[in-house]
Amino acid sequence: MPQTLSVIKADIGGWVGHSAMHPEILAYGNEALAQAVQAGLLIDGQAHACGDDLFLIMSHDRGQDSEAVHKFAWETFSSGTEIAKRLGLYGAGQDLLADAFSGNIRGMGPGSAEMEIAERPSEPVIVFMGDKTSAGAFNLPLYKMFADPFNTSGLVLAEALHQGFAFEVHDLRENTKIVLQAPEELYDLLIFIGSPGRFAIKRVVARATGEVAAVSSTDKLSSIAGRYVGKDDPTVIVRCQGNFPAVGEVLEPFATAWLVEGFMRGSHYGPWMPTSEAQARPGRFDGPPRVVALGFQLADGKLGLSRDLFDDPSFDNARAEANQVTDYLRKHGPFEPHRLPLDELEYTTMPAVASKLQARWIGI
Ligand code: F6R
Ligand code: MG
Ligand code: MG
Repeated sequence: MPQTLSVIKADIGGWVGHSAMHPEILAYGNEALAQAVQAGLLIDGQAHACGDDLFLIMSHDRGQDSEAVHKFAWETFSSGTEIAKRLGLYGAGQDLLADAFSGNIRGMGPGSAEMEIAERPSEPVIVFMGDKTSAGAFNLPLYKMFADPFNTSGLVLAEALHQGFAFEVHDLRENTKIVLQAPEELYDLLIFIGSPGRFAIKRVVARATGEVAAVSSTDKLSSIAGRYVGKDDPTVIVRCQGNFPAVGEVLEPFATAWLVEGFMRGSHYGPWMPTSEAQARPGRFDGPPRVVALGFQLADGKLGLSRDLFDDPSFDNARAEANQVTDYLRKHGPFEPHRLPLDELEYTTMPAVASKLQARWIGI
């Protein structure tokens, strides 16, 4: 029986400001999941947090886009919002952009990544959770995991990986998609995914077997709402070992604190810091942006104990690098390239200031 892994996430209120998730919300998420397991909706479920976002990690046998599972997630976020309001949390319900559930959670605010798998005898999976950054932030790490032999030695050394991977890329502006084959089409792939603000890797498939290897959330809050309402704070599910990169190859891209867009007011570039779940509480300048990696060994669809994979001194240098890069970028204050280019700012006073001063601009 194929199983489905669904990660559905939303910011339903921050504690304090946009920095973290209140323990009551997390406890509520876990209770709701336990009830859904009891009721037979899910095989298993765990709630986790990265910054101010609640991630519902679920396994079930209802397939992708299951109305029942999406409705459960929506209702959990809605009831969680009531708790957030009672606690006076900041931005309660901020990612819930629709008034009522209407069949599928996509396009309603929360982000989702889902994959259907035939569970292997041993199925190691990593769920990455991001905060204070955008859909598309996983482009570079996914490229390195599945297409860069300097990162993933298995592409060169292991028969099972040697045929490469296919990348499904979404154009988030045009709402179109394309599949590109690595390694033959690497240069074509890179011209798109090197612009993560517009193009995002949705899915990666092993070419040797056709098995899904990774799926990410590409939901863009600002396109859904038509204005800035908070950052997308994406997630990605990655299968590991055997026909896929090893756990260490999947984690290796995060040994560098790559620049991503997000950070304060969703309007700056900043380094993406890999941390434990406990340390994923952006503080300085509402950042730096965080990424957490939770490892699971599935067993008949049960998630089992999660392993907090960046809770590891071998990522200390990446964290130090992120702090150093933050020090340097912050010195630029309101100047690019720390601040995003004008047309990518999530917050801006430009139209108002430009119109106020319009008459004072004179020809030169
Ligand atoms: C970034 C983020 C925060 C807020 C900032 C201002 O994704 O969530 O940096 O943009 O704290 O928040 P408001 O406008 O809600 O006061
Ligand atoms: Mg928030
Ligand atoms: Mg967030």
